[in-house]
Amino acid sequence: MGILDKHRVLEKNVTLLAIFAFLVVTIGGLVQIAPLFWLENTIEDVEGMRPYTPLELVGRDVYVREGCYVCHSQMIRPMRDEVERYGHYSLAAESQYDHPFQWGSKRTGPDLARVGLRYSDEWHVDHLRDPQSVVPESVMPKYGFLEDRLIDGRYMQDRLRTDRLVGVPYTEEMVENAVADFRAQADPDSDYDGLVERYGDTVQVRNFDGAAGISEADALIAYLQMLGTLVDFSTFTPVASR
Ligand code: HEC
Repeated sequence: MGILDKHRVLEKNVTLLAIFAFLVVTIGGLVQIAPLFWLENTIEDVEGMRPYTPLELVGRDVYVREGCYVCHSQMIRPMRDEVERYGHYSLAAESQYDHPFQWGSKRTGPDLARVGLRYSDEWHVDHLRDPQSVVPESVMPKYGFLEDRLIDGRYMQDRLRTDRLVGVPYTEEMVENAVADFRAQADPDSDYDGLVERYGDTVQVRNFDGAAGISEADALIAYLQMLGTLVDFSTFTPVASR
């Protein structure tokens, strides 16, 4: 009996087919899932990744609240057209501190995983206020109201503690200084040495929206300007090619 004849037996008997299909799926599932139980960590540590600063974290909360992920992904796939357009493909480590992740599922607008430092703060202010003023055919809604919503950051310690609860490695020192760090990042005249010491050289300190007070626009732009800037891809080599 040839292999095709044997297979014909399977195809003609629905019970047998179900049993064999189940076996194949079980083996495939085990091969995928079982190794995860023996790996300590499935995310490869990557130099440069750090928890978000308090201001970036608030900006991220605004991003989530406004549903930016409905139109924007933060996930560059390892395919040539994407890498040429957006930059190095996304690494797992780059979303390791995201709760919840912002990979998105649809791109009405471009991917934002590496939008940081691609435009000036002023560009972002103009674009958020009136996207059509910079990109006439844009279908992005206007978010000018974010500039009027000031945040005092009183709850910042609890905010950091909440993320720590789900595994983000905020130190006690980061939590203690959360309110001060939050204010310092939006004020270039402040004493922000402690902020940079705690979070590293990639922290950008500016008055992001150019207006007095810390607004949701400040926080959101601080977050956008950080996206994709933490890992230095001129020195990064994936484990597989080391
Ligand atoms: C209805 C869909 C939609 C929503 C919601 C939306 N955007 Fe957009 N966005 C777009 C489109 C389309 C573009 C491309 C045209 C443009 O630049 O306006 C864009 C462009 C952008 C760009 C420029 C990206 C680049 O590489 O040029 C940024 C930054 C941006 N959006 C941020 C946001 C943020 C932050 C939010 C949430 C506050 C948001 N968008 C919500 C559709 C959307």
